[in-house]
Amino acid sequence: MSDSHHTIEALFDEARTFPPPPELASRAIVQSDEIYAEAEADLEGYWARQAERVVWRERWSQVLDWSKAPFAKWFVGAKLNVTESCLDRHLANHADRVAYYWEGEPGDRKILTYGELHTEVCRLANALASLGVEKGDRVAIYMGMVPEMPIALLACARLGAPHSVVFGGFSAESLADRINDASAKVLITCDGAWRGGAVVPLKDMADDALTRTPSIEHVVVVRRTGSDVSMTSGRDVWYDQIVPDQPAQRPATECDSEDLLYLLYTSGTTAKPKGIVHSCGGYLVGAAASHSMVFDLHEEEDIYWCTADIGWVTGHSYVVYGPLANGATSVIYEGGPSFPDKDRFWDIVERYGVTLFYTAPTSIRTFMKWGESHLEKHDLSSLRLLGTVGEPINPEAWMWYRKNVGGDRCPIVDTWWQTETGGLMISPLPGVTTTKPGSATVPLPGISADVVDEEGRSVPLGQGGYLVITKPWPSMLRGIYGDDDRFVETYWRRFSKPEENRWVYFAGDGAKRDHDGYYWLLGRVDDVMNVSGHRISTLEVESALVDHPAVAEAAVVGRDDPVTGQAIAAFVTLRGDRVGDEMLIAELRDHVAGKIGKIARPASIVFTDELPKTRSGKIMRRLLRDISEQRKLGDVTTLANEAVVQEIAERAKSMHRADG
Ligand code: WTA
Repeated sequence: MSDSHHTIEALFDEARTFPPPPELASRAIVQSDEIYAEAEADLEGYWARQAERVVWRERWSQVLDWSKAPFAKWFVGAKLNVTESCLDRHLANHADRVAYYWEGEPGDRKILTYGELHTEVCRLANALASLGVEKGDRVAIYMGMVPEMPIALLACARLGAPHSVVFGGFSAESLADRINDASAKVLITCDGAWRGGAVVPLKDMADDALTRTPSIEHVVVVRRTGSDVSMTSGRDVWYDQIVPDQPAQRPATECDSEDLLYLLYTSGTTAKPKGIVHSCGGYLVGAAASHSMVFDLHEEEDIYWCTADIGWVTGHSYVVYGPLANGATSVIYEGGPSFPDKDRFWDIVERYGVTLFYTAPTSIRTFMKWGESHLEKHDLSSLRLLGTVGEPINPEAWMWYRKNVGGDRCPIVDTWWQTETGGLMISPLPGVTTTKPGSATVPLPGISADVVDEEGRSVPLGQGGYLVITKPWPSMLRGIYGDDDRFVETYWRRFSKPEENRWVYFAGDGAKRDHDGYYWLLGRVDDVMNVSGHRISTLEVESALVDHPAVAEAAVVGRDDPVTGQAIAAFVTLRGDRVGDEMLIAELRDHVAGKIGKIARPASIVFTDELPKTRSGKIMRRLLRDISEQRKLGDVTTLANEAVVQEIAERAKSMHRADG
């Protein structure tokens, strides 16, 4: 666990509290805290009531089947197609309501009503079907944030074909690995994507990946940047050549509640990313219910903007499925926050009259760094609720967000959850929960969490430990694609007692509860780093480094960083008499970017003759973290090569001086 809990410890008992604003509370979607007790008293009854939000073709025979735990079935035997909840049902009464206000980075704009979105989704679904996509086939999506991206997810869902979205910042190699793990049949991509005034060459990178993805039969390419790209005849087709002439209707394919809706790969404690499996029924119930209650969505009035990229789970649940199921009007912005200027976000908030705004702590800290003048240029009075997600938010950033973005009047919902949980788990309900800066507050109704010690015993209030979820929930992951053993091993082995039929989900996060029972998230307790809210495995970066011919051994840690939360610090030993210099540092950083993606590029690389290891040969990451954060070195008594540590510390220090 990182050092951050020292600050939190000092803060959490005296934290300031912010009760729900009366105007919001008096007409909130959830106005009474009785909902917690109701859910507690009858968990399945509670989720069955929440399931009424979704359009079902056939109802379930059983709410939850946990007999094969930890493999869950929710809404057993029920039939649906999620796009009927997200699209068709809105046509009768509000086909003209805006689903998405889309704004491109260069300033171009597009509006998609629910009626238009329905048509576009049907057209693409027909086009995909003409390329041979059938129910159950996996479709990979590697795109920028263009209107065709949510359309692509929904078109797959329309056909019952699971999508696997790969974030546009990942490298060709990462894309190829994910396509191959899922044996995807079709890839949907763009010629390029706008980011910070430059073009990300998505099709070129896809072409590189496609040299080693035998399962791909066709590639659909959206024209966005007009970049010159190569098209392989027979395999590649332009979106604008096959989609517009398709029929505007496409019957939705009936799916079972437990059919696969999508795969989304995420980093774990090994070098190989895991394909997290989400199914149709339970996932949509969880996403829709949490979106409505936590964001207090009044769908006829609110303008909702979640700034996440659809390449991440936040975009899946809170740009696409949750908001559309609830009939929300959302903003999607394609590009970077500083293009053309550092007030781009606030300009968007003002022009669209955004009322509900959801972003990441790392963005908030960036805005803090840029200063208030960029906000002062704009009228932000439309905002009535703010949210954060992705990493612990430090109380200073929380207070700054409240004051400068929220005008001291908007409640903040700090939402803790994961790719694996599918939906929000620990979060305030803005009409009932008193918030404290830095705390995600309490588990949502129907979610049972706990903080436990090494032995899995619940720790008393005021103490810290491992965050666990003690009962199943509808939007929970159904597995790791193609690897049931790893699923059980990663999430369920550590704290479950199968012999007592007690199954406990281990989230991988540390947490403390204060004397009011509020949860304070303390960051990952495994080898997963959180850089700008992106999950990156230390092992993945280490193996990318070792893949370089100059590198003998590498150790990677996440060190505290005031803006990105953590930054990647690498320690590298070189082969033979290879000498480390600035050029090699640049080369290694590029190498990692090429293997994984730019988000995984180390912030610093220190060359060393040896890595500090225990007598049994394990790299002592804790010491390296101490060195990276320039703390007093922790316990070195089990260390085999003490002199090494001093030497590395010296080198790291001189590097920091050079940086600064
Ligand atoms: C971290 C993103 C503290 C946590 C939705 C978790 C948070 C990981 C919060 C999941 C929060 C997410 N406070 N930490 N509000 N939200 N995290 O899968 O470490 O990309 O395990 O899902 O992000 O990241 P993922």
